[in-house]
Amino acid sequence: RQHLAVAVEDVGGTQAQHDAVAELIRAFTVSADKLRAIQTHFISEMEKGLKHHGQTVAMIPSFVEGRLTGQEKGTFLALDLGGTNLRVVQVELLGAGEFTTKSTKYKVSEELKTTDAKNLFNFIADSIDSFLAEHGLDAAEEAIPLGFTFSFPVYQSKINRGTLKSWTKGFSCPGLVGKDPVVMLQDALAKKHVPVFVTALVNDTVGTLLSHAYRNPDTMAGIILGTGTNGAYIENMKNIEKWDGGSTTSNEMIINMEFGAFDNERRALPLTMFDNKLDRESINPHEQIFEKMIAGMYLGEIVRNTLLHLIDRELLFSSNSSKELNEMWSLETTYMSAIEADADPQLESTKNILEQTLSIPSTTLTDRRIVKKVCELVGTRAARLASAAIGGIIAHRDALETGCACGIDGSLYEFYPNFETRMYAALKELFGEGVEKKIRLGLAKDGSGVGAALVACVAAKMFKSLPV
Ligand code: GLC
Repeated sequence: RQHLAVAVEDVGGTQAQHDAVAELIRAFTVSADKLRAIQTHFISEMEKGLKHHGQTVAMIPSFVEGRLTGQEKGTFLALDLGGTNLRVVQVELLGAGEFTTKSTKYKVSEELKTTDAKNLFNFIADSIDSFLAEHGLDAAEEAIPLGFTFSFPVYQSKINRGTLKSWTKGFSCPGLVGKDPVVMLQDALAKKHVPVFVTALVNDTVGTLLSHAYRNPDTMAGIILGTGTNGAYIENMKNIEKWDGGSTTSNEMIINMEFGAFDNERRALPLTMFDNKLDRESINPHEQIFEKMIAGMYLGEIVRNTLLHLIDRELLFSSNSSKELNEMWSLETTYMSAIEADADPQLESTKNILEQTLSIPSTTLTDRRIVKKVCELVGTRAARLASAAIGGIIAHRDALETGCACGIDGSLYEFYPNFETRMYAALKELFGEGVEKKIRLGLAKDGSGVGAALVACVAAKMFKSLPV
């Protein structure tokens, strides 16, 4: 219990409310033993994915070989698509691990996430075009090289080629699964005469790993804890038994794990009825089960399901809900962050969110404490599960004794209260005291953008000249 800030007694209220909270604590708490069991299963799933194609944890070779020196230099464009925003970034790699970036964000509307892929790529090409105009790059004599961070599961066949396996995170644009996103993008750019050449295709986890490695050479893994969740790490070439991607000169390669799909078979994960409801109602049922317990896109929805259940049992908000709270996805994970950060004895911010933003007619202090408790449970479980994955990578690579760094990007890790502390608490349960000296988690801010520029640079190195 030590990682849970509020004990059940602190909630107050009736015996029935107390019992319901105790029940939720049982359902959402991942014990140290359970954590170890999840880690063990995670490692065996990783190893399966390295041996055979088409496994649940896909373990996709990224075609990014070797490590960075930190001396990479040059100006590159990066395009980052994969969560809530599309970003175009101009990255200047200065060498010595230093860089500067200029970027513009374009909001990807709900409509664009489900429209025909051609429309999505036209929108992307337009965004790049306006970015170039804004930064006076539109009159370039030669095509500008661009690294494309496309944060979905893509089976790669080259550093700038691949096919989309499936959409995740609420995207479902028809016409791209089984096709190459680079070809789509390059076609859309060509039609609009945008002078840009896509030289690298990279997952955000791979980008995050590289951008962190640019400054911390002992980086072993890149993790995303944002709208979605996933990890990449450096693997020995000889362990990738399924490798059929041709000859390589390097003895290492970065693997995009696609661990959001871990345990879609539901063998090890402690799913609750609230998770099952979310999965059933999602656009990709039975897929990305692990991601749905961890990532920012989903945590608020788990909380919403839990609160509705308490309302239906007449244990919360005097049995009142609201039109807003009844609507799927209305409880955003950012509200959970604010509620968890609410240190006011009367829980005033929590009251605001519930009564103003979510239009619950009225709340008692007990109601608000219960809501806060639910957020803590769901947020803590997410952090602990993320650590089981990181712990799996570290154990598989036997990297504890030598020590290593993990670059992490994403709004959960950056902004959600106590997320990192809870991750370290779980890592301690897996690896013992002093773990924070051996496994150094760190924010890889802007990881995906800078990472794509680095891959564009690595691509140039790998091919000596840029690939055509
Ligand atoms: C989803 C995607 C994966 C990405 C992750 C984080 O899991 O499938 O490719 O890395 O989200 O953005």
